[in-house]
Order: sequence, then structure tokens, then C-alpha cells
Amino acid sequence: MDVTIFGSGYVGLVTGACLAEVGNNVLCVDVNAEKIDMLNAGAVPIFEPGLEDMIRRNTQAGRLAFSTDLAKGVAHGLFQFIAVGTPPDEDGSADLKHVLSVATTIGECMETYRIVVDKSTVPVGTADRVAERIREAQAARGVNIELDVVSNPEFLKEGAAIEDFMRPDRVIVGTDNPRTGELLRALYAPFNRSHDRLMVMDVRSAELTKYAANAILATKISFMNELSNIAEAVGADIEQVRVGIGSDPRIGYQFIYPGCGYGGSCFPKDVRALERTATAVGYSAELLQAVEAVNFRQKDLLFRKISDYFGGALEGKVVALWGLAFKPNTDDMREASSRRLMEQLWEAGASVRAFDPVAMGETRRIYGERSDLTLTDDLLTALEGADALAILTEWTQFRSPDFDAVRQRLRHPVVFDGRNILDHSQVTAAGMTYVSIGRSP
Ligand code: UGA
Repeated sequence: MDVTIFGSGYVGLVTGACLAEVGNNVLCVDVNAEKIDMLNAGAVPIFEPGLEDMIRRNTQAGRLAFSTDLAKGVAHGLFQFIAVGTPPDEDGSADLKHVLSVATTIGECMETYRIVVDKSTVPVGTADRVAERIREAQAARGVNIELDVVSNPEFLKEGAAIEDFMRPDRVIVGTDNPRTGELLRALYAPFNRSHDRLMVMDVRSAELTKYAANAILATKISFMNELSNIAEAVGADIEQVRVGIGSDPRIGYQFIYPGCGYGGSCFPKDVRALERTATAVGYSAELLQAVEAVNFRQKDLLFRKISDYFGGALEGKVVALWGLAFKPNTDDMREASSRRLMEQLWEAGASVRAFDPVAMGETRRIYGERSDLTLTDDLLTALEGADALAILTEWTQFRSPDFDAVRQRLRHPVVFDGRNILDHSQVTAAGMTYVSIGRSP
């Protein structure tokens, strides 16, 4: 089948590559010429395991191409995926200008029936607005060509996006037209194995499902973070509590890991956007507000712990950071807890020596060259001349370091573990103080 994907960002590239992988003829279109040139030259602008190989393989096979030509994109695919960004505007609502601009282009250029698929995370009601935009653009040129707008939210986890697309838990298709539902079912058939994972529902329910999924996951994390603060204050160990509650299958073990807050491009933005959607229809979403507030506070926690340890005297201190990305297996730094910590440390006159397996280029891009930030080639070098170590991302390679080597390099033998990934007894056996989340030191 012929598929066009508007937006060659994270979601668009993964969707395009995976649809090409199963034999579709995919054209990815983006207004950013630099990005398209890069993709045409075989380079992939983001780090995602498996993506570069998949793009190369499918480009070479002639099933995947990249272009800046929007009209060509509209002419190409029966399916027109919209996977452009929806950055939050000033009040936290999702900004739909890119989505609606693609809709206008489709309306201006379409010559025959098109299925427009909203893949970007968009507020409830967006499919209707997209359809309206397309019809307006058609009316302006005096045509009235049939179309359907479908909501097909993505549920990709960064770092595991290819796997999530190829073997999805579910594929949500929101449409009021049963025939369109069947066409989407055919497109997704290669990914819909072993049992039927494709759910067709009405458009607004599909749109809300996306936000509901992220909001409940974010709620689990903030809930655990709140509990961890209580645990610490009452002298309990949140890690034992976590295992204790997770054993109840109604609660489950997933997404109840306490830490220094959730980040990324999805949870913070989506919780806020859902809260704004609720407000816009006159409902005050108290729980969502609390989820966000707890996360905001949690991102300050490591700084407070470090500052308390040094009696507030951070001027001239050097803090080593392991982990810059908002989570492992990605170079994404959006809303990463490391950013708040680094900025607070700099503000307090401390400097940072940091190591991350893949996010150092991104850190350099965001912060540029500065005298209070040193990026090192490996984790032990980050500790040289450092007063303390803080762990921000749960990369596997940080889990069992050579504790004696860590101890020898630190000026003050103290580790602040923002992800509770180290073994308390091993750290203390190596003669270091261990400060973690939700456990008394
Ligand atoms: C999230 C969802 O998990 C995906 O299902 C969804 O498709 C995606 O958003 C999206 O909307 O596009 P992602 O943002 O890639 O995926 O990352 P997660 O693995 O969910 O992690 C988010 C943050 O929560 C990270 O900072 C992580 O460290 C933190 N986290 C996660 C915790 O603090 N505790 C946990 O128990 C789990």
C-alpha cells in the first residue's frame, strides 16, 4: 500500500520505517530540508536502537523515500499520516499549528479519496478540526473530495520504539466509518499477530485513550514518588514497599519505580495537556494537577539532598553525574531530571562532570561549551576530582560499577542515587555514604 508520513521526527520515522519494513511503499515528507538531506544521505537525526539499519535497508530496497515536496506527499499515499510535533503552548495545551498546516496542505492538493491518520498525540476533538481544515481548503479551490480522518495514536517507548511498533500491545483506530476501519486493519495486519490487537472505536475515545494511558502511567510514578517521601520520613524502605505492593497483580510491578521524577517528551506534556483539556470543558482535574506538582517537586529532590549533605556550601564543589538522558537507551534530554539538577548546581556555584552513553552530543547542543560543565569519555573519568556522584538515569552499565574505583576517585565518599539502582550494602561496604530515594541513609 502507498503511505505518506508527514513529519520525520521520532514518531514519523519509526512509523515510516516499520511500515516500509513490511512491504509498504512509504514516502516521508518534512518541511525541514536539512533533515531530509541528512536522511537522503543515509544519516538518521535521532538515536533509536535498530532505526538506522531499518531505514537503510528499506531505502535501498526502494520502499522508503524522503522528500520536502508536500504536494508529492499528498499525491503519493492513500494513507496520509500526520506525525508532526505538537509542542505545548504557553499554557500547556498542545499547539496544533503544525498538524493543522498539514491538514491545509492535504486539502489544497488532494485529487482523490484520502485517509488522513492522526498519529501525533493530539487533544480530543482534533480529528474533527483536521477534517474541517481539509474541507475549508478544498472549498477554497471549489472541490469537495471524499476523505476520512482517523485517530491512530502511537504507543511507542523511546529506546524500544521499533519493537513496540513491530509487536504492539494494541493498535487503536478511531473512526466512525467501518470501511476505513477495515482499510486500517489491512495496513496493520502484519503487526497484528497471534491474537487480534487492533481495536476500532469512535474517534474521540481513541484520542482520549492516548492521554489516558500516559496519564495513568505518570500517576503511578508520582504516586510512588510521593510514597517514597513518606517512607523516608517514617523510616521505611520504599524498595521493600514496592516489592510488597507490586506482588498484587492488580497493582503490578511496572511503573512503580520511585526516582528523581519522570521526564521525556510525553508524560510531562501529556499530563499537562489533558489537564488543560479538562479545564477547557469546565472540569478541574485535581488528580492530574497533583501528579504534575509531585513530579515537579521530585525533580528538585537530588539537589536538596546534595545541598543538605554539604550544608548548603556548594560553591566550588564538583558533582559527577552519571546519566543525562531522561531514561536509558535514548539521547533525548527533553524534561530530563538531569537538566534541572545541573542548572540548580550551576546556580549554586558548583560545576558538573558528566557521562552518558549516548546523550553527550545532545547535552553539548543544549548547553554549549561552558566552564562549569565537563563531559567525559567514561564513567570513572567523570569522578576524577569530583566531590560527589549523582546517578540520574537507570542505564544498565551504571548498576554494578567497581565500587572501590568509585571510592578512590571521589573527594567525598558519597553517592546520590536518583534511580535506586545500586545495592545499598555494596556502596556502604566500599566505605561510601549512600543517599537514595525513599530510604533512610
Ligand atoms: C511513554 C510511554 O511509556 C509510552 O507508552 C508512550 O507511547 C510514550 O510515552 C508516548 O506518549 O509517546 P517514554 O516517554 O518513551 O514513553 O518513556 P517511559 O519509558 O514511559 O519513561 C518515562 C519516564 O518515567 C522516564 O523519565 C523514566 O525514568 C520514568 N519512570 C518510568 C519512573 O520514574 N519510574 C517508573 O517506574 C517508570
